[in-house]
Amino acid sequence: MSGTELFARATLDSLSAHIAIIDGSGEIVALNKAWREFAAANNATGNVSEGANYLGVCDSAVGDQSGYAAAFAEGIRAVLRGRREEFAMEYPCHSPTEYRWFIGRITLFRNDTPQAVVSHENITQRKLAEEALARVLRTRTDFMADVSHELRTPLTVIRGNAEVGLQRASDHVHRETLEEILQEAERMTRMVEDLLLLARSDSGSLPLTFEPVPVATLLLRLARRADALVRERGASLRTALTGEGRLRCDVERIEQAVLVLVDNAAKYGPSEGEISLSSRTRQDELLIEVADQGPGIREEELPRIFERFYRGESPPEQRGSGLGLPIARTIVEAHGGHIEAVSRVGKGTRVSIHLPLLGDS
Ligand SMILES: Nc1ncnc2c1ncn2[C@@H]1O[C@H](COP(=O)(O)OP(=O)(O)OP(=O)(O)O)[C@@H](O)[C@H]1O
Ligand SMILES: [Mg+2]
Repeated sequence: MSGTELFARATLDSLSAHIAIIDGSGEIVALNKAWREFAAANNATGNVSEGANYLGVCDSAVGDQSGYAAAFAEGIRAVLRGRREEFAMEYPCHSPTEYRWFIGRITLFRNDTPQAVVSHENITQRKLAEEALARVLRTRTDFMADVSHELRTPLTVIRGNAEVGLQRASDHVHRETLEEILQEAERMTRMVEDLLLLARSDSGSLPLTFEPVPVATLLLRLARRADALVRERGASLRTALTGEGRLRCDVERIEQAVLVLVDNAAKYGPSEGEISLSSRTRQDELLIEVADQGPGIREEELPRIFERFYRGESPPEQRGSGLGLPIARTIVEAHGGHIEAVSRVGKGTRVSIHLPLLGDS
């Protein structure tokens, strides 16, 4: 063996991944120490050895592993035939006594003729950590969904009682107290509904009723709802709504997302200022924009406004819970769309929702 070969062999043997070098036909040219030891420990020395055809070994695999072996062989062929530079796949390989996961990789190189490095690396520890993390996240999401759900009923009772009390209260102090209770209970109800929506979206169970809707119908509803909200806030709304075609959407949810933007524009914009709600269709999407001439958002703050519970520095009477924009984003993304904001301090803010249109078929 030449010095270079000795060096290559020592390097391969020092690695814990199982490594084989194969030629263009799939024949095994060399195996490293980790591979040989693994094969011996798993009684597979007979079929996988130098000189054997690795593709043949994969093709003749039987039992649970045969599907993964076939997919891996397909990847090897794609690399050897130059259809791809490399291929990698993760697969389970449990033994009767051990829970195991591996990642198999194939990397092409040229050594006179095309050859490839096949490696299998044990990634069980990473898989276990990922599974533990997923369990923790699932527990957190379930907890959030359960708590939000459980809070709905008592909040309805509080609101109902406060409303009945308000109808009967005759003196000013009682009325004021009950109005405050009602306001806070309504704020909490909104927050609980928002949290429930986010928790359901996290667990992939956001209830959405998709139906094909003409853009014109959606826009008409948006204009009506936005106008009512803006009036309530003492501002005025300018609409420039155009667009054609249809989209597959949950109208109520899209309305909710757009109203989040209108609510922000009315809340943070100058009092009695003008808010613009516009739309247009271009290529295969519907673009809905809400713009205000408010204080704007600082550049370094802009990427954070879609984070849950993020609230800028606003006076106490404007304080929300920081869930509006995350909700809008969740809804828009569940429709296959995206949302973005541009803003200039002192000039105003424009938030745009892009939604995919249905094809003509
Ligand atoms: N049009 C806007 N002009 C200026 N700042 C804005 C605008 N829209 C959003 N922001 C900033 O982004 C933050 C996050 O907005 P988001 O709607 O998520 O939460 P919120 O309005 O604080 O509370 P919530 O919507 O839950 O009542 C706001 O607190 C505000 O600082
Ligand atoms: Mg908001």
